[in-house]
Amino acid sequence: MSAEKSAYEKLLDELRQRKEKAYKGGGDERIKAQHSKGKLTARERLALLFDEGSFNEIMTFATTRATEFGLDKERYYGDGVVTGWGKVDGRTVFAYAQDFTEIGGTLGEMHAAKIGKIYELALKVGAPVVGINDSGGARIQEGAMALEGYGLVFKNNVMASGVIPQITIMAGPAAGGAVYSPALTDFIIMIKGDAYYMFVTGPEITKVVLGEEVTFQDLGGAVVHASKSGVVHFMVDSEQEAINTAKKLLSYLPSNNMEEPPYMDTGDQVDRDVSGVDQIIPDDPAKPYNMKEIISRIVDNGEFLEVHKHWARNIIVGFARIGGNVVGIVANNPEEFGGSIDIDAADKAARFIRFCDAFNIPLISLVDTPGYVPGTDQEYKGIIRHGAKMLYAFAEATVPKITMIVRKSYGGAHIAMSIKSLGADLVYAWPTAEIAVTGPEGAVRILYKREIQQASNPDDFIKQKIAEYRKLFANPYWAAEKGLVDDVIEPKDTRRVIAAALEMLRNKREYRYPKKHGNIPL
Ligand code: HXC
Repeated sequence: MSAEKSAYEKLLDELRQRKEKAYKGGGDERIKAQHSKGKLTARERLALLFDEGSFNEIMTFATTRATEFGLDKERYYGDGVVTGWGKVDGRTVFAYAQDFTEIGGTLGEMHAAKIGKIYELALKVGAPVVGINDSGGARIQEGAMALEGYGLVFKNNVMASGVIPQITIMAGPAAGGAVYSPALTDFIIMIKGDAYYMFVTGPEITKVVLGEEVTFQDLGGAVVHASKSGVVHFMVDSEQEAINTAKKLLSYLPSNNMEEPPYMDTGDQVDRDVSGVDQIIPDDPAKPYNMKEIISRIVDNGEFLEVHKHWARNIIVGFARIGGNVVGIVANNPEEFGGSIDIDAADKAARFIRFCDAFNIPLISLVDTPGYVPGTDQEYKGIIRHGAKMLYAFAEATVPKITMIVRKSYGGAHIAMSIKSLGADLVYAWPTAEIAVTGPEGAVRILYKREIQQASNPDDFIKQKIAEYRKLFANPYWAAEKGLVDDVIEPKDTRRVIAAALEMLRNKREYRYPKKHGNIPL
């Protein structure tokens, strides 16, 4: 046999060499540098995300057309981003992972075109996109073409919004406008650690402009964004956990807005009693308790994927299953500001409600709120504008909406947690519910202002009137008699009642007037 390779074999050799070069990204040195920062490479991350052997890379050989500032001296296959699709738990998902080893994962014309290509395909077939961001931002050498590239990515994010789920993993730096693609997606998962941060303006410029000294982490680390700014929905400890969180999240989501969320046989009996749930609420109505305890007892196997766990903790939102079907839960948290709603809580809830509505996920409200937070701070920052978002989001949502009032439900916050006239399909209450315009103390002082001034013993008078008010309104029956509550139930029946309501509402159809889009207060 001749040792000489055939022309075809030589072609194959060339292909394999070129692919090997592409898979090496920015080369061994830069891969080593990436690993030394505790970061994985783009391909290592994708290997963790996708079911084994299912990833199909596209535009592997694409590279920049730019020649300025030496870009023509060393060309990188892939142009700083690996793109393609594969299976996650057997379902098709598209992904891009920025490759920091190639020109710092920066975004230029071709890099953006590659992301645009997977969005085009993902939208055509109706599959989610996971973006793994690790980039120095706009590629300086490509000037305005890089900015144009960002415009293309942002446009794709917006076009896909509400059509396919979009999840971003922050796995490196993101500075300047580069933060806005993540912000335009549905969920951001961010890893804790020095190598991961995001801000519009970095510490150097902050110092020059404001004289303010701040570290990278204090300005834009995961802790800051998960607890203070609310930019980040899930904070995780490692790259592996980031990928696991993305997968877990995907397990609750339909692939697109035309599909139902995935049913899963959880093995948890749907009509079981929720034992002990009534012991969670203390006898004293002023005392807090753990609302998450109630949630975990109601949902399948106690599994609750909380979104925005560390931010605006006075409201709790997240995904769970009841009888195997996915639900979105919106619950007040009496352990934070007594469960009252402030600006951040309203923003958090409204965004979650709109996500669920866009992706056919029924909404369950668990209510225990004394009202909106008062005071100059909140009023000056626009609680009127922000609080209105929750009203808007619930009223606009056409998915099944079930409300369970477990304790206080007062004033504007009562409405904001979804009531009948706002569009709730069914409103239930526990016997511990209190439903009124305002709490007893405030109500009595307003209703009996003159009498209190004239009373010989104002304190006794107030006490007596509070008792009368509580008797009338601090229960669910006054509202139930008016038909505002569909049933008052024993807490142990909560799961069964919600499951039956969900089953009945499965084929719910509700239509809206045709319009270009609504104008949610921002
Ligand atoms: C071109 C860049 C780059 C950029 C990094 N690199 N950022 N190349 N344009 N924006 C290159 C570096 O030259 C280097 O190339 C490689 O990427 C790795 O960068 P290092 O600096 O060595 O890495 P590290 O020390 O980890 O620092 C990472 C970094 C830093 C913090 C991201 O590189 C940095 O500050 N870059 C600039 C960030 C920035 O200002 N971007 C523009 C933001 S404005 P070699 O060849 O040595 O490997 C923006 C506008 C978007 O993005 C607008 C949208 C509306």
